[in-house]
Amino acid sequence: MKTEHLPCVRVEKRKGEEIRRTLKELELLRTDARITSNDNFIYLPLTRELKEDEVGEIDFTELLTAEFELLEQRRSIEDVVGFKPSYEMVGDIAVLTAMDLTGENEQLVAHALINLHKNIKVVAKQVSPVEGVFRKRKLEIIAGENRTETIHRENGCRYKLDLEKVYFNPRLATERNRVASQVRTRDGDNKEEIIDMFAGVGPFSIQIAKRAPQSHVTAIDANPDAIRYLRENIELNGVRNVEAMEGDIKEIYERFRNKADRIIMNLPKSAYLFLREALCMLNPRGRIIHFYDLESSYSDATDEEPKAHEIEIAAINKAKAKLSAKVKEAGDEFHFRSLEIRDARKVKTYAPYAYIIGIDAAIIGTPQ
Ligand SMILES: C[S@@+](CC[C@H](N)C(=O)[O-])C[C@H]1O[C@@H](n2cnc3c(N)ncnc32)[C@H](O)[C@@H]1O
Repeated sequence: MKTEHLPCVRVEKRKGEEIRRTLKELELLRTDARITSNDNFIYLPLTRELKEDEVGEIDFTELLTAEFELLEQRRSIEDVVGFKPSYEMVGDIAVLTAMDLTGENEQLVAHALINLHKNIKVVAKQVSPVEGVFRKRKLEIIAGENRTETIHRENGCRYKLDLEKVYFNPRLATERNRVASQVRTRDGDNKEEIIDMFAGVGPFSIQIAKRAPQSHVTAIDANPDAIRYLRENIELNGVRNVEAMEGDIKEIYERFRNKADRIIMNLPKSAYLFLREALCMLNPRGRIIHFYDLESSYSDATDEEPKAHEIEIAAINKAKAKLSAKVKEAGDEFHFRSLEIRDARKVKTYAPYAYIIGIDAAIIGTPQ
């Protein structure tokens, strides 16, 4: 065990966490040395002696020096392979997403990932784009166990899934949280009827159902494998208010005419083609649609290269216009009077100059 004599502060236990955070923010805390404590005090190792004015700023008991155990520094993947490979984590599977890695590099990265991170049991490489109606992708196992099934944890829920058989994107965790947090959670009149039109293995549906147990969610998907996992995930998360339904929404939407208070349309490439069905399912009093759209926005014709945020704004405006036009087109048929866009944002970058845009829209109905 390596130790070192370091300057440190002695802090009363009850103030320990607060002062530790302050020191860390000020970059005064040695994060490679183990913090020690006794019954009453905590000893926080410092990167250097404190200056006089700093002593006054931090509320601690005493400045001294003490012996600290030095912790082994964790090496990063970049330290080991010399570059930062792009990969995403789904459960215990690391998926290499840059398709241009050579065989030798792939092996290097895969073994480095497994050696550095105990939680990684499989390294796979994405060998096709996300494609087809079911939005699936092909993977090739590079290292570790030979499987593509895993359990992913997100926002307090667990999702079992096979990465080759269903769509799943861990980068949408924040977006799912955003949508789930809008669902009303109190009892009584606050019960919401929600339809998740393109539910996949259920990450929107299950999080909402868990958060708002008085709500009822119908989770629909055309992919039988997604529905099989969705049903398993309903059990895995112990939610009773999600109903999984397999089918093409174009064929089954009539069953849900006028039912929904809230509709989630997470099929960015073609959600706009399903807006008529969504409006038909929406409660005529009018309620909320979470609409996702893929928009690119770049014109070679401009002399000056536009700034990234200008391109994003242009893409957001295109998505808003698309939604407004479609709702107007189908609105009369379903007695919808107006559309109020409550929020529109970039959810993620899809490709250079192409973005997934998320829109929360209130659709107001004509009183019947
Ligand atoms: C982009 S994925 C979204 C999955 C899920 N919402 C998520 O966040 O992981 C779109 C899903 O829509 C399903 N899908 C595509 N067309 C459909 C249709 N016409 N009816 C029902 N589901 C459909 C696909 O099988 C896929 O699982």
